[in-house]
Amino acid sequence: MTEQRHLLITSALPYANSPLHLGHILEHTQSDIWARLHRMLGHEVKYLCADDAHGTPIMLRAEREGRTPEELVDAIRQQHWEDLQAFGISYDHYHSTHSPENREMVYHIYHALKDAGHVETKVIEQYYDPQREMFLPDRFIKGTCPKCGAADQYGDNCEVCGATYTPADLLEPRSVVSGAKPVMRESLHYFINLKNFEPMLKDWVANTGQLQEEVKNKLAEWFEAGLQSWDISRDAPYFGFPIPGEKDKYFYVWVDAPVGYLACLKYVCEHNGEAFQPWIDPDSQYEMHHFVGKDILYFHTLFWPAMLHGAGLKVPSGVYVHGFLTVNGKKMSKSRGTFINASTYLEHLQPDYLRYYLASKLGTGVNDLNLNLDDFRQKINADLIGKVINIASRTAGFINKRFNGVLADSMDQPDLYAEFIQASPQIQQLFEQRNYNAAIRHIMTLADKANQYIAAAAPWKAIKESGRETEVHRVCTTGLNLFRVLMSWLAPVIPHTAAKAAAFLNTDFTHWNAIEQPLLNHSINPFKPLMTRIEEKHTDALLQSAKEQLKTMDEKKPETVSGAGGNPAKTEPVAPQIPYDDFAKVDLRIARIAKAEQVEGADKLLRLTLDLGHETRQVFAGIKSAYQPEDLEGRLTVMVANLAPRKMRFGVSEGMVLAVGPGGQNIFLLSPDTGAQPGMRVK
Ligand code: MSP
Ligand code: ZN
Repeated sequence: MTEQRHLLITSALPYANSPLHLGHILEHTQSDIWARLHRMLGHEVKYLCADDAHGTPIMLRAEREGRTPEELVDAIRQQHWEDLQAFGISYDHYHSTHSPENREMVYHIYHALKDAGHVETKVIEQYYDPQREMFLPDRFIKGTCPKCGAADQYGDNCEVCGATYTPADLLEPRSVVSGAKPVMRESLHYFINLKNFEPMLKDWVANTGQLQEEVKNKLAEWFEAGLQSWDISRDAPYFGFPIPGEKDKYFYVWVDAPVGYLACLKYVCEHNGEAFQPWIDPDSQYEMHHFVGKDILYFHTLFWPAMLHGAGLKVPSGVYVHGFLTVNGKKMSKSRGTFINASTYLEHLQPDYLRYYLASKLGTGVNDLNLNLDDFRQKINADLIGKVINIASRTAGFINKRFNGVLADSMDQPDLYAEFIQASPQIQQLFEQRNYNAAIRHIMTLADKANQYIAAAAPWKAIKESGRETEVHRVCTTGLNLFRVLMSWLAPVIPHTAAKAAAFLNTDFTHWNAIEQPLLNHSINPFKPLMTRIEEKHTDALLQSAKEQLKTMDEKKPETVSGAGGNPAKTEPVAPQIPYDDFAKVDLRIARIAKAEQVEGADKLLRLTLDLGHETRQVFAGIKSAYQPEDLEGRLTVMVANLAPRKMRFGVSEGMVLAVGPGGQNIFLLSPDTGAQPGMRVK
């Protein structure tokens, strides 16, 4: 065997203020497959994660719920951990960043950085909520977009026109926390001078850190634009670690979050009586690998290596970035009901289905990955049930019934078996390179071969002919050995199914190379179906639950967060007066939405077919962010019927439907009272 490696493997630490969703599961599955693979290869693996407990949103949520932040983060951590276990994510430990180990380690790193002269202070101006008496993060300020005038937009960007800006640019700003008008205030902040680390970071990117090409390109852009100092402090009130020696100053959550990786490891080492030092010693061969989403790349490839290096610790060996999960081609969205929590999924479907599907789509790139539920069903049924498990279900019965549950002492096709074993190093390598989709394709090609072999040997026919018993015994023994090899390769991907297969075959899948020795003269157990087919009704029920659950979640949303303090209707001044004749020029009609469809390539638009009684119109409406097409069909609304047709990229729009609201999920289509009929004029 090659030399034993020592790998710390992590996923990003989920925030402790909301349940895990399928996007999180994508990341945990990606890292879990890798961790399980390396364990099977005989390496020392510390596969760790934790909840990210600190920050303003968590503090405010606890406050609203009338409990301490500690109580909140404990409860959420418990939920997260249960979901992860149910998905078979095999963390050796699941910690919290709000822990004594983490505090100690953050302080250690901070002192080291400070002593080395990397910490500086600067007075900055920031919005302050005079009522709640706190500084406001950008996301806790809302107001009118300075570019397009849309009401109810966040302090950093406009969801309607896409503009980015600073909170100071917002018109009519208000605090999301109290509704009060914020005021600008000065405060002393602590910064890490990232420029000091530029040479070290460039060297890490070019030579030592394992990074994807896309990531390296992104980093090159950031270097080109110039590295900015990083603001690492926040003012009280804040849920986090106080900055030692300062009053009312806390570390920004992103300081202690990545340190949480190491704190969790330290905790585990201390508990197991193992040495922690080699893991952080820059000269050791120990490895540290992080799996993260594309949105938190900056933190993991600039701040984190800089902090570690500045404190004289080992820098990451690799940062592997994945894209975002979309559902049925759309961003997971609460308004569309495609926001699926991990626990909602588990109420309807088995974890291995999703693990397999995600693995079959995960490659080495950072592109987004779509969960198409039709494709999902088809793939599980065709690959796992139709190909892999099928091999066992076609051969196991004969061994159990005819041969006392004992495999033959030789195989019918040792060459085919040898061909499978020869493919093993390449499959291993594809998994090691995180090229899971290629590994799965390779495995499925071999599964096809195994099925072709069984079909040709047709043990179900041969068994009926006298004198062919031994042959059938050997054919089924070959089949089950090929099945074992496939399952062993898939064990990191579908651990629950692999565990059932191991029990059936009376073996285990703990060593990658164990398959080199076939199972001969070996007792197996009765075969039970390892997996059931997914039907459309299962995925439909999942989407239905996801929608219902979001409704209850939205109802629970407190006033203060959804739209506190400002009535958006008041913020838009009434337009200049017009004579009645001008209004009369606008021909408004009641229309029935006969059809509503997605428009390929359009982010915001739906194509509506409007029935006006005696004619139909095609209208493109920018309401996709708020409505599902199927929810619109059949309902009545109001349209401008005499608007000049407009040629758009997707076709001609023959009118306009009327709606109110700032945009995003908050778009509300008008409807008439009962009795109105398509074609009636609104006046
Ligand atoms: N707490 C920070 C991470 C700190 S790591 C030291 C955080 N938490 S998070 O809960 O918002 O996200 C956790 C991980 O889930 C991130 O890697 C993020 O990219 C990933 N995902 C969140 N939504 C996702 C999808 N829709 N799809 C795939 N991954 C997604 O960021
Ligand atoms: Zn705008």
